[in-house]
Amino acid sequence: MNYDDEKMTLHRESPCKVNLLLNVLGRRPDGFHELETIMHPVHLTDALSFERAASGIELGCNVPELPVDSRNLVHRAATAFLNRAGIQREGIRIHLEKRLPLAAGIGAGSANAAATLAGLNELFGSPLSEAELQELAVALGSDVPFFLQCKPALATGRGEQIQPLDFFSIVRGAAFLLVYPGFGVSTPWAYRSLARFPDALNGRPSRAQKLIAALNSGDLNAVGSELYNSLEAPVLSKYPLLQLFQDHLRELGAPAVRMSGSGSTTFALAPAPEAAEEWAARLKKRFGSQLWTAVAPVHVEG
Ligand code: C5P
Repeated sequence: MNYDDEKMTLHRESPCKVNLLLNVLGRRPDGFHELETIMHPVHLTDALSFERAASGIELGCNVPELPVDSRNLVHRAATAFLNRAGIQREGIRIHLEKRLPLAAGIGAGSANAAATLAGLNELFGSPLSEAELQELAVALGSDVPFFLQCKPALATGRGEQIQPLDFFSIVRGAAFLLVYPGFGVSTPWAYRSLARFPDALNGRPSRAQKLIAALNSGDLNAVGSELYNSLEAPVLSKYPLLQLFQDHLRELGAPAVRMSGSGSTTFALAPAPEAAEEWAARLKKRFGSQLWTAVAPVHVEG
C-alpha cells in the first residue's frame, strides 16, 4: 500500500485465500450453513486505487463483464463505509485492476471489499474503529472479515467468526499452486446442492483440530490426508474435470491437493515453489496451455 503524492491516490493490493478445510456442519435456520473452515492467505493479488472526489462513488474496472454499480462488492463496501462514517459532502473514485479469476472460490471479491473498507478508512483519516469495520465486513459477506486481518484463521459460524492462527511451520519455504479451469462455480448453487449429499451436508465437527495438528507436525503427507472440503461432493460430481486435476496432481506426487471454497479453483501445497512450477507445467501439458495456473510462495509474517 502506498500513496501517489500528486493526486493523493491510495494504492492497495488485494490478495486471495484457499480453504485448507471447509467442513459444513449443517444447514442453519437463516439459510446459511454452519462451518468450520481453515483459511490461508495467498499472495496473488488484484490492485485497487482510491481517491477522494467531489461526490458519489465512481468505480472503474479493467474487466468489462464485471458490473461497476451496486452489484459489485467494492461499490457496496464503499457505500457502507460512507454511510457508517457519515460522509455526505464528499465522494470516492476507485479503480479495480482484476488479475484473479472470478467465481473461483479463492475469495478475491471478498478481499476487494475488505481492501476497500480498510483503504477508505485510511484515506479519510480513520473515522471508523476496527470493530466498526468488522461489523461492515460481516454484512458484506461471510469471507470479508477474514481479509481484514488476512492471517491464517479458523473461521466458524457462517465463516465470519475469525480466530487467527499462528503461521504453521510447514508453510515456511512452501508455495501454493492454484489451478483455475476457465469457468466459475456459483456459491449459492454449491451450498444448495449439498441437500443431495447428506453426509457432506452434516459433517462431523473437529476436523479442524486434526488438520491444525497435522499442519504443526511438519509432515506434508499428514496434512494432505486431513485437507477436506464438503463442497467437493456436489461440485466435483457436476464438473469431473476438477476431479481429473486432483488425480493428475496426486499422480505427479503432490501430497496435499484440494478444491478451494465452492470452486472452481484447485490448489496444491508444495514444499517449494520449484515443485509447484513443475506441477503447473505438467498440468498445462496434459490439459492445454490455456489453463490458468499461478504459483504463490507462502508469505510468513508476524
Ligand atoms: O456470505 P456470502 O455472500 O459469501 O455467501 C454467498 C452464498 O453462499 C450465500 O447466499 C449462501 O447461499 C451460501 N453460503 C452458505 N453458508 C455459508 C456461506 C455461504 O449457505 N456459511
